[in-house]
Amino acid sequence: MSCGILIAAAGQGKRMGAGINKQFLNINGKPILVHTLEKFQNKDWINEIIIVAHPKELNEVRRLIQKFGLSVDKIVPGGNERQESIQNGLSYIRSDWVMVHDGARPFIDPKLLDKLYIQLQTKEAVVLGVPTKDTIKIVDETLYIKHTPDRKSLWAIQTPQAFRLSILKEAYQKAKEDGFLGTDDSSLVERIGMKVHILEGDYRNIKITTPEDLIWAKSILDEWSEFK
Ligand code: CTP
Ligand code: MG
Repeated sequence: MSCGILIAAAGQGKRMGAGINKQFLNINGKPILVHTLEKFQNKDWINEIIIVAHPKELNEVRRLIQKFGLSVDKIVPGGNERQESIQNGLSYIRSDWVMVHDGARPFIDPKLLDKLYIQLQTKEAVVLGVPTKDTIKIVDETLYIKHTPDRKSLWAIQTPQAFRLSILKEAYQKAKEDGFLGTDDSSLVERIGMKVHILEGDYRNIKITTPEDLIWAKSILDEWSEFK
């Protein structure tokens, strides 16, 4: 089973408001993207690693990879939306399976990656997620609550999201034809009628999005260095 990794790193980090792509911000002396890539190194089941980067940042990503001695097969340009970035990245994948991961999720546990890979031996689409801790409301445009879904059926979905490549490509093609823009890969696969399975993940696998996430990030990293 050949499996490729596609790292989405072509965003601009607008919600972080740092003035640069948040993935180049340092946590304990190393850029977030480097922390992320380190988790995917030296795994015998990974066939290829492809990074989708902003067209203006291809050289910066290349420089980091050299500086930190990381092994990456290709750096390819992304688009304006995450969905466009991933669609372009997918055209470079040569493996039968692919795991898509956010460059802004540096705390993915390498042991969980192995578990996810094992799931692919019996399932065609598997994503990481954790049960929601907060009560989630469906709210209208005027901020009135419409409905409270039962928390037992709510999961916060993370990356990596893993698929048979042909299925993910079909889902992306269909979304493009329909003008559908989703916020994750799974939603595109769900809408072509495929069953997507959840593998229970880890609350530490946060996506670094807004400034306070950097506070949690430092604590998670300190804990990581102590126990791993
Ligand atoms: N991403 C991408 N191409 C885009 C937009 C996002 O590859 N056009 C990547 C980001 O680099 C990030 C991941 O997708 O690793 C998740 O997206 P998000 O957290 O939204 O990152 P940004 O789009 O950079 O942040 P923001 O939405 O706040 O601008
Ligand atoms: Mg974004």
